[in-house]
Amino acid sequence: MHHPVDANALNEALDQAAELLRPARKVAVLTGAGISAESGLATFRGSNGLWEGHRIEEVATPEAFRRDPVLVWRFYHLRRANLATVQPNPGHHALAALEQRLGAGFTLVTQNVDGLHQAAGSKNILEVHGAIRRVKCSGCLRVTDRGVAALPEMPRCAECDALERPDVVWFGEALPEAIWEQAVKAVLSCECFLVVGTSAVVYPAAGLIDLARTGGSAVIEVNVERSAASAQVDVLLLGPSGTVLPELVKRL
Ligand code: OAD
Repeated sequence: MHHPVDANALNEALDQAAELLRPARKVAVLTGAGISAESGLATFRGSNGLWEGHRIEEVATPEAFRRDPVLVWRFYHLRRANLATVQPNPGHHALAALEQRLGAGFTLVTQNVDGLHQAAGSKNILEVHGAIRRVKCSGCLRVTDRGVAALPEMPRCAECDALERPDVVWFGEALPEAIWEQAVKAVLSCECFLVVGTSAVVYPAAGLIDLARTGGSAVIEVNVERSAASAQVDVLLLGPSGTVLPELVKRL
């Protein structure tokens, strides 16, 4: 079926978004799982948002790890193995190109733990939910980067022998303080804020959208459907980030 009206609406919205983005010298971006969907990674709250019948909130918590570390590690072993097989998509690459254009005025805040922004060449990245390639000792808190290589079923610390865990932020845990502070600063001082592929329901990350407004920034959203943030944005670009973001950057 043809939707010429929708195509026109997206075109007009892209023009409006480019008008807001073009003059901005300070730009901040918030990404969520949706930007990696076209790389083949499942989102958390999509139609396929369950993992073996568990909601994300049931596996990604400190309580779950205490109760059943084998189950939680099995979830992360699978996600790590999956990462070894995926590549960044044109949406990630478009954000790297935007950073090239803006230099130090560009900050990318990501809720993703997949490392695909780094793989696409983005530099100024604030990983507010941690990174799945890193492992943290639950005893001495030592952090090591293990890439995406396979790990033992229950990895133990080489220093203190305590059980290691993924170095990601779980529900109920605090975000890494210094990184979060940098994100808040970048969002408060930007002129244009781009929100891409997030349901905007997980706080405090979703609160950055309000903060951008408070700081006087324009807000542009890219999503395949309306999110919890859509009512507060200046321009909503309804479409997959892998095609919408390259289109947007091309118009600058
Ligand atoms: P969600 O799974 O909640 O939301 C993904 C969003 O991406 C949805 O709004 C989709 O409509 C949108 N989307 C899907 N495909 C897209 C595409 N091709 N282009 C653009 N948008 C698309 O993921 P997050 O918002 O990232 O936290 O979830 C936030 C946090 O909750 C995650 O960081 C994780 C999770 O539980 C922790 O693990 C702490």
